[in-house]
Amino acid sequence: MQAARMIGPEIAPPAMCYYEPLKGSGGKCRACLVKVTAGSEKDPRPMPKLVPACITAVQDGMIVENTVNEDVLETRKGIVEFLLLNHPLDCPVCDQAGECHLQDFSFEHGVSSTRTVEERNTFEPTDLGPNIQLHMNRCILCYRCVYTADQITDGRVHGVMNRGDHAEISTYIEKAIDNDFSGNVIDVCPVGALTDKTYRFKSRVWFSKPVDAHCECTKCSGKATIWYKGEEVIRVTGRKNMWGEVTDFICNGCRFDKKKTSDWVIEGPTNVSRHSVISANKYGANLIKPAFPVLQAARDYKQINDDRDRSFLGIQPALPKSKKK
Ligand code: SF4
Ligand code: FES
Repeated sequence: MQAARMIGPEIAPPAMCYYEPLKGSGGKCRACLVKVTAGSEKDPRPMPKLVPACITAVQDGMIVENTVNEDVLETRKGIVEFLLLNHPLDCPVCDQAGECHLQDFSFEHGVSSTRTVEERNTFEPTDLGPNIQLHMNRCILCYRCVYTADQITDGRVHGVMNRGDHAEISTYIEKAIDNDFSGNVIDVCPVGALTDKTYRFKSRVWFSKPVDAHCECTKCSGKATIWYKGEEVIRVTGRKNMWGEVTDFICNGCRFDKKKTSDWVIEGPTNVSRHSVISANKYGANLIKPAFPVLQAARDYKQINDDRDRSFLGIQPALPKSKKK
């Protein structure tokens, strides 16, 4: 995965559970399956099955097919289907819409229909302490929040309970997540399962303006992204890189309590480098041309037979541009 990312975003496989700053992440969602057609220089045999790019070590002479292999593309459709088995299609009311990796993954690799009629697993939303709400319905069990709590907070109190179809994120006996860095689980969640209660339903993300800012903080680096709606700071998050990964984890004080411009030193507009709806209509002309619909339109384009008799309309047909005088 890291080798592909070094080449560029057009080559990098999608990732739903892998998160570079978190040790041990990856290998859960299978979004990144690729075909290894030659294992290495020493042993150029192909690997018999598709392998997850995020936990497969790169070797000299390895040949990997990601964007061109039929098996890979077909399998990804199935992976999207799996991830959506229990995931509700509630994007219109979900706070993560517009920055949801599952939305992007299903847009780029999924199919537009469903084959399931079974009832989905449903859970009531649960408060995990005063500032975080868990919507278990939307969780894809990527384990990122568990690794985050394990690696950057003291004493994790939540985890994945049960197994298989019964697996769910939960706190031990409804204990609140009470830790100075607990809010980071919101930033690492690829879907809208863990949401910021101070921000919920305040705005669609594409109507807000992200700005890089810093503050004097004794607990964290104080480097954050603050999100404006008009003059109001409606949300504070960690800064993310082009892969949607937080580069500096921030403390709960910065995240939940500093909601005034005077709390921050503004550095300038955030560079939203990920191919994202957030950057649309903000800092110049909207240059986003989503590749998938353009390709689909090109593939499905049909020449319309326009030789129909329109004389009954009593108007002259327009001449093609080249014939106009
Ligand atoms: S709550 Fe979010 S981060 Fe945690 S396992 Fe579920 S999808 Fe992953
Ligand atoms: S990103 Fe590789 S398995 Fe999830």
